Amino acid sequence: MVSEFVKVVIQDGIGVVTIDRQEALNALNDAILAGLEEAFIALDRDLSVRAVILTGAGKAFVAGADIKAMATFTAQEAHAFAQRGQRIFNLIEEHPHPVIAAVNGFALGGGCELAMACDLRIASDKARAGQPEVNLGVLPGFGGTQRLARVIGRSAAKHLLFTGEVITAARALELGLFNEVVPPDDLMPRCLAIATTIAAKAPLAVTGCKQAVNLGTDGPISNGLAIEADLFAAAFGTADQVEGMQAFIEKRPAHFVGK
Ligand code: CAA
Repeated sequence: MVSEFVKVVIQDGIGVVTIDRQEALNALNDAILAGLEEAFIALDRDLSVRAVILTGAGKAFVAGADIKAMATFTAQEAHAFAQRGQRIFNLIEEHPHPVIAAVNGFALGGGCELAMACDLRIASDKARAGQPEVNLGVLPGFGGTQRLARVIGRSAAKHLLFTGEVITAARALELGLFNEVVPPDDLMPRCLAIATTIAAKAPLAVTGCKQAVNLGTDGPISNGLAIEADLFAAAFGTADQVEGMQAFIEKRPAHFVGK
């Protein structure tokens, strides 16, 4: 499946989504946002998919929302743009299967926000991250103020938001913004290895883990524990729970079917 700037390849249960608008360092314009929405709706519908990798072509992951397109926005247009971007990034965050950002280069502004809508961020040592919107007279609009504080904590997030500092991959790793940093040539193999590991697990259980963390960790722990207990219970009676436990007892590998 291919749209103008967003390419999707699905193989062996792993969807690889590549943003390719290299002349603008993959800056997010209308067409890319539409392509991402279309891609994640299609990945959601494809029952073979167990994990997704999202990356950028060329030297950038995504260098932000398209500044040239935003330059003449009215406040009303900016509001609609933020809501649209947030809705599409929520679609990625809520995708039933794990989404891994393969951060190959610049992840700035909307690009850092896009990476944070993913579940894991594996980065090349050439990657750079930041929320430089204050240099442009604006602030993040695709979830940056909210997700950055949730990923690295309010204090470190405020530092990056207030200063617009662009940080190295090593610093992003220290802050917990990136899960792992690898040499550029190892980036896709490492992401594929993680995705392949995930794809071999019980899909409904992996989805349950994702939902429990996403839905349960922002409020009181009593609420999160109640969500966990419900999802734990829902796993029982599935074919994969029966198979997983039986395989353990019979000392053989489990074969999961996602039911
Ligand atoms: N929007 C539009 N075009 C962009 C862009 C962006 N976010 N980022 C890069 N480009 C374009 C450049 O204008 C340039 O195009 P031209 O050749 O037509 O001039 C091309 O991509 C290559 O960029 P550079 O020549 O600047 O490349 P560089 O290697 O010298 O610098 C960079 C790379 C440091 C990433 C620099 O391009 C840069 O600072 N980009 C902007 C980063 C930024 O501020 N992002 C935040 C955007 S606002 C936002 O995202 C709001 C939100 O939350 C929704």
